[in-house]
Parts: sequence; structure tokens; C-alpha cells
Amino acid sequence: MPISTTFKTVVIAGATGNVGYPIAEAFLNDGSYKIKIFRKKPENKNERAELLASKGAEIVYVDYTQKDDLVKALKGTDVIVSAVKAIRFKKTSGDFYNIQLPLLEAAKEVGVKRFIPSEFGGEYTTGLFQEFVEMLGFDVKNKTATFYVDGNSKIYSTSLADIGKYTVESLKLPEARNATIRVAGSTETFNEILQMFEEATGSKWKVVEDREVRYRFRNKIEPIPSTADDFRVFVFESSILSKFDKVDNDKFNFTPHSLTEQINIIAKNA
Ligand SMILES: NC(=O)c1ccc[n+]([C@@H]2O[C@H](COP(=O)([O-])OP(=O)(O)OC[C@H]3O[C@@H](n4cnc5c(N)ncnc54)[C@H](OP(=O)(O)O)[C@@H]3O)[C@@H](O)[C@H]2O)c1
Repeated sequence: MPISTTFKTVVIAGATGNVGYPIAEAFLNDGSYKIKIFRKKPENKNERAELLASKGAEIVYVDYTQKDDLVKALKGTDVIVSAVKAIRFKKTSGDFYNIQLPLLEAAKEVGVKRFIPSEFGGEYTTGLFQEFVEMLGFDVKNKTATFYVDGNSKIYSTSLADIGKYTVESLKLPEARNATIRVAGSTETFNEILQMFEEATGSKWKVVEDREVRYRFRNKIEPIPSTADDFRVFVFESSILSKFDKVDNDKFNFTPHSLTEQINIIAKNA
């Protein structure tokens, strides 16, 4: 018997966000589950929540800091997918794992069978979301690519829609229990991505090489790069350094979107 038949009710926390929304859409498209969307109190109007409700999701407002409130709201839940905001700065906004802790404790109390934490791409060993490809230094407006690493380095990318599908399909995999699932929708070198942008925009791009940005950022050497540039380099370096010997793509039987599709959309909307 497929394991997913034991799961009937799925709660998605953070479904109005970048990652949670395509996940919620994928669950609703799948149609096999009762879907509840947890939203943080106080109630507020949200277009994405309204769209998900119109497709059959039940919207439930919770206080993520109150375990009792969460226990009540979680009654009858089989699976929780947490896609709550990643808050990294303890000083200002609290810790992102701590936000999920009462939810995890309440899930345990209620007997939730699967808890998928908000760690989508958190390790960066599964690469980047294709929708954010421009962030890697591809400037469509100015037709300029900034390379922080060797252009022949490979990077892995997956579309948000496919992240949603992989999440839904992972419930059918017994081996996904207590495990990390690593997937890559597309694999390209930075030079190949540049070529995709050039083809999509129909023009030759300028390439700027900047290998020292992190060094300058850390050592405060003028011109000091911005935090955004430093983050970009971090993503670059982490992505290319990833070891992909353990990728789980072969456990899924659908064809993910190619990066070319996303680049064509970006070029068309530029
Ligand atoms: N690999 C990548 O390229 C990549 C990129 C982006 C994100 N991610 C990962 O994806 C996950 C979600 O990130 P995201 O960008 O989708 O998040 P997001 O859009 O910033 O936020 C998601 C939702 O979390 C809820 N939320 C906000 N503050 C909250 C709080 N204090 N407590 C509880 N819920 C709160 C909000 O929903 P309501 O207002 O409806 O409650 C919000 O819509 C994270 O694990 C992140 O690391 C990975």
C-alpha cells in the first residue's frame, strides 16, 4: 500500500510565502489531501491566502508561540509542511528554528506523522531556485554578467513549482521519512547560463570578473562590496562546492522545468 494513503490532512505553515505558496498549490493540484493553511495571528488580508482558499484550502489563524493554540488547531493532522519565513538574525527578529519549535512540539503531542521543516535549500547543497537566477549576477537590463567564480563551475537549480511537486511526491517515499531529500531540476555551468541569457535576449553580454568580492567585504577593503554582493558570492561558492553524489532525482518520476524556460520568461518580462 503506498504510504501516502495513510496521510489525509496536510497543514502548510507559511503558505503565503515564496516557497510555501507553490507548495500549497502543488498539494491542491494533487487533490488527494485535505489542505489547511496556517497563518500567523492577527488576521490580515492576503491575496495568496484568498486564492488558496478559493481552490479549497481552509485558512486557520494560529499563534505560533502558543503550543496549546497549535495543539487545538492541529487535531487530526497527518502531515505538516513548514515553509515559514527564514529569520536568521536573532537580535532583531528571533531565531527561525525557534519559531518552528512550538509547532514541532504540538505536532508531537497531536501525533502528526510527518513534519517537513522549513529548510528548503537551506544548506544550499541543492542549489538555487530558478526564479532567483538573476541574483547570481545576471543583469538583464544592462546585459552584464558578473562572475565571482570560474565560469565553468556548475550550479544546480530547481523551479519553485517543482519544489512544490517534489514535496508532494516525497510523501509517497517511505525513505523520505527522517531524511533530507536533495533534488536538482537543472544543472548548468555559469557560462551555459550566460549563453541562455544571450540567446533569450538576442544579444551578446558583457562579462565582468570579480573574484575578490568576499575578501574585500570581510577585510573592509575599498571599494567595500554590499552585504547583498557578499551573500551572492556565498551562494555561488556554496552551490558550486556541493557534492551531488547523493541526489535523489531518480526517486521521482516527473520531468522538472529547465532553467531555459525561466530565463526566457525573465528576458520576455525585462
Ligand atoms: N534555496 C533558495 O534559493 C531559497 C530561497 C528562499 C527561501 N528559501 C527557504 O524557504 C523557506 C521559506 O522562505 P520564504 O522566502 O518562502 O519565506 P517568506 O516568503 O519570507 O515567508 C513565508 C511565510 O512565513 C510566514 N511568517 C512570516 N513571519 C513569521 C513568523 N514570525 N512566524 C511564523 N510565520 C511567519 C508568513 O505567512 P503568513 O503571514 O501567512 O502567516 C510568510 O508569508 C526557508 O526555509 C528558506 O530558507 C530557500
